[in-house]
Amino acid sequence: MNNIIECLNLGYSYHNGNIKTPVLNALNLTIAPAESVAIVGQSGCGKSTLLNLLGGMSQPATGKVLINNTDLSQINEEKITQLRAQHLGFVYQFHHLLKDFSALENVAMPLLIRGDNKQLAIDKASQLLANIGLQDRLNHRPAELSGGQRQRVAIARALINNPSCLLADEPTGNLDANNAQEVLNLMMALNQQQQSALILVTHDMNIAKKMDRFLTLENGVLT
Ligand SMILES: Nc1ncnc2c1ncn2[C@@H]1O[C@H](COP(=O)(O)OP(=O)(O)OP(=O)(O)O)[C@@H](O)[C@H]1O
Ligand SMILES: [Mg+2]
Repeated sequence: MNNIIECLNLGYSYHNGNIKTPVLNALNLTIAPAESVAIVGQSGCGKSTLLNLLGGMSQPATGKVLINNTDLSQINEEKITQLRAQHLGFVYQFHHLLKDFSALENVAMPLLIRGDNKQLAIDKASQLLANIGLQDRLNHRPAELSGGQRQRVAIARALINNPSCLLADEPTGNLDANNAQEVLNLMMALNQQQQSALILVTHDMNIAKKMDRFLTLENGVLT
C-alpha cells in the first residue's frame, strides 16, 4: 500500500547550550491516503515538533520520514521544498496570513510563488474562497476578517495545491464554538470530497473522536 506519510523510529531533541530537551523517542506513524487522524497530548508533549518533522521543516536526530515513499533524508533542501509544495498543506494555530495582502492574494500566493500564470492562480483562488462561503470577502485583508474567516482563508491557502495530506496544528484553538465547528466541518468535508488525508492536532476530545482514529503523544511516542 502507498502511504502518504510514514515515519520510522523518529527521535528528536532540542539543544540550547548544554541543555538537552528530548521530545520524540522512536516514534512510528503511518498515514494512508484519505485517512483522517487526530493527534492529542498535553501541552509541550511535542505535537508541533512532530508536524515540523513530517513537513521536512526540521530534521530528526534518529529515524526517517517518508513523504509519498520518498525518504526526506536522501534528498536536498530544494527537493524537500518541492515535495512539500506538491503533497502537503499546512494550517497553523495562528493563521500566518500575510497582513498586507488580500484574502484572494493570500490564497493565490503558493501558486504565484511556484510561477503559475497569474490569472489562473487568481481564478482558482476565487473559486476556492467561493466554495467556502467567502466570495464577498476576496479583497479584505486579514485584519478586516473575523477569526473564523481568517482560519478559513488559511485552509484555502493550504488546499490550493491540492495536497494529498493536510496537516493542521490546533486550527480551531483560537476560535469560538461556532467558528470552530465551521472550520472543522470544512476540513472534514474536504477530506471526504478530495480524498486528501488529514492530520489534526487538537486538545478537544470531541473533535478527535470524529476522525478515523486518534493517537495520543506521550513520552515521545504515539499510542
Ligand atoms: N526551540 C526550542 N528550544 C528548546 N525547547 C523547545 C523549543 N521548542 C519547543 N521546545 C520544547 O519542546 C517541547 C515540545 O514542544 P512542542 O511545541 O512540540 O509542544 P506541543 O505539544 O506542540 O505543545 P502545545 O500543545 O502547547 O502547542 C516542549 O517541552 C517545549 O518546551
Ligand atoms: Mg503546539
